[in-house]
Amino acid sequence: MSATVLAVIGNPRPESRTHHIARTLAAELRRALGAPASDLDEVDLAPLGSRVLDYDDTTVAHEVERVLAAEVLVVASPTYKATYSGLLKAFLDRVGTGALTGSAVPVLLGGAPNHALAVDAHFTPLLAELGAATPTRGLFVLESQLGALDQTAAAFADRWARWLAP
Ligand SMILES: Cc1cc2nc3c(=O)[nH]c(=O)nc-3n(C[C@H](O)[C@H](O)[C@H](O)COP(=O)(O)O)c2cc1C
Repeated sequence: MSATVLAVIGNPRPESRTHHIARTLAAELRRALGAPASDLDEVDLAPLGSRVLDYDDTTVAHEVERVLAAEVLVVASPTYKATYSGLLKAFLDRVGTGALTGSAVPVLLGGAPNHALAVDAHFTPLLAELGAATPTRGLFVLESQLGALDQTAAAFADRWARWLAP
């Protein structure tokens, strides 16, 4: 059981806590799947910024191709207005309907516990629309629970890796 695991970080701010969560969960999934680590294992949207709206931008087009090629995606965003960030949505609007062929895990970081279901209610349907298999619950991380992230990510990976494997 092995797979390419790619993290997509949809936070407009670079090196955010969302980024850390995505890296941590992707690393745990690689461990659980027996997949090698790689320097090319994430697509960070922060440095791309408004370029995601430029359909002539070849760097963004290349990042879309990497997303299409991934076998397991960890797609992470801060919770913005009870859903995901607009930056992430603008980037994913470049992925054709049904174009993803692997699996995906939606991940939200948020400050409000009453928005925990947003990951399953709003984020999972977006990834399914793009074609990804979404066999897991989404992961909603409360800011107040970030201290337990390592254990949370390891437990999530141990529980779900075999459902995400190609
Ligand atoms: C524009 C904006 C909208 C937000 N909306 C929500 C929200 O609806 N629900 C929530 O729980 N947190 C909301 N937050 C808080 C962020 O989700 C929270 O600060 C997040 O943990 C930040 O992640 P980061 O440290 O990776 O940037 C919002 C923050 C911003 C900047």
